[in-house]
Amino acid sequence: MAKIVHKEVLAPQIKLMVVEAPWVAQKAKAGQFVVLRIHERGERVPLTIADFDPSQGTVTIIFQEVGKSTMLLGTLEEGDEILDFVGPLGKEIEERNFGHVVCIGGGVGIAPTYPKAKALKEKGNFVTSIIGARTKTMLFWEEKMQEVSDVLLVTTDDGTYGEKGFVTHVLERVLQKEKVDLVIAVGPVIMMKMVSMVTKPHGVKTLVSLNPIMVDGTGMCGCCRVTVDGKCKFTCVDGPVFDGHSVNFDELMARQRIYLEEEQRALDLWLTEQAKEEAFRVV
Ligand SMILES: Cc1cc2nc3c(=O)[nH]c(=O)nc-3n(C[C@H](O)[C@H](O)[C@H](O)COP(=O)(O)OP(=O)(O)OC[C@H]3O[C@@H](n4cnc5c(N)ncnc54)[C@H](O)[C@@H]3O)c2cc1C
Ligand code: FES
Repeated sequence: MAKIVHKEVLAPQIKLMVVEAPWVAQKAKAGQFVVLRIHERGERVPLTIADFDPSQGTVTIIFQEVGKSTMLLGTLEEGDEILDFVGPLGKEIEERNFGHVVCIGGGVGIAPTYPKAKALKEKGNFVTSIIGARTKTMLFWEEKMQEVSDVLLVTTDDGTYGEKGFVTHVLERVLQKEKVDLVIAVGPVIMMKMVSMVTKPHGVKTLVSLNPIMVDGTGMCGCCRVTVDGKCKFTCVDGPVFDGHSVNFDELMARQRIYLEEEQRALDLWLTEQAKEEAFRVV
């Protein structure tokens, strides 16, 4: 059981929870994730460790409510407990001085970008961060990203805050002007694909954090397989961070859509049950 000690709404459908999980907090490293289960019959939900505090024994998760399980998680409040909270899982990023690192976070991907930028800044890298969201209200953790960055650049697709356009436009400009030694990108798969396409002609090593559908999270079911450099890799144990120039992004996007029908059915059923419960409460 892992108790929720703090909850915050960061943006519409994006929530932060600080969870008591001392065993995870002691061992967590930037790049790793947890798999949680809300109740006995709940599905396993992989979420990146957005921050951790070994002295307090807490782990911070940030999630976007996109379907049944993340919406259910969003209904939990401070003091409630999450049944299983397993981690840290996956491999950590290599923490050393590369020189100039550009960290890119798109949408809810800003959260997993933070611990990576923080760890690399602590190793003496010059960190340029680029964070982007669809619109101003969807942007969060600008101040926290500023704290761990030498330069912070902000974009919104609609121009309601920061520079209008995609993170890739700003990245292209940085690459034209400055020597960059490493790019790390976390966000929607299409964003990570575009970032990798932008950096390839510049010959800049690019790491991306993949988010395929996962089940066990320990390398046994094969559900999270991705093709990297023509070889089959399991994201949960071989990743989630891979070389963006070697990932087959199109296959990943197709595999993410495999259960759309079932996911929609599960969400509809859950919303109907919620509506019935609400009606009983009113009566
Ligand atoms: C290593 C990793 C780290 C992640 N970190 C974060 C994070 O920090 N914040 C965040 O908001 N999301 C993160 N995700 C995605 C998150 O796990 C899914 O959004 C969540 O499982 C969706 O469940 P659902 O029931 O709410 O939605 P569903 O309606 O079931 O699915 C909505 C979409 O989410 C994806 N998805 C569904 N089930 C899974 C699953 N078991 N594993 C992975 N993806 C799934 C699919 O693309 C699907 O189309 C991460 C995924 C992985 C693999
Ligand atoms: S989630 Fe089962 S092998 Fe990775």
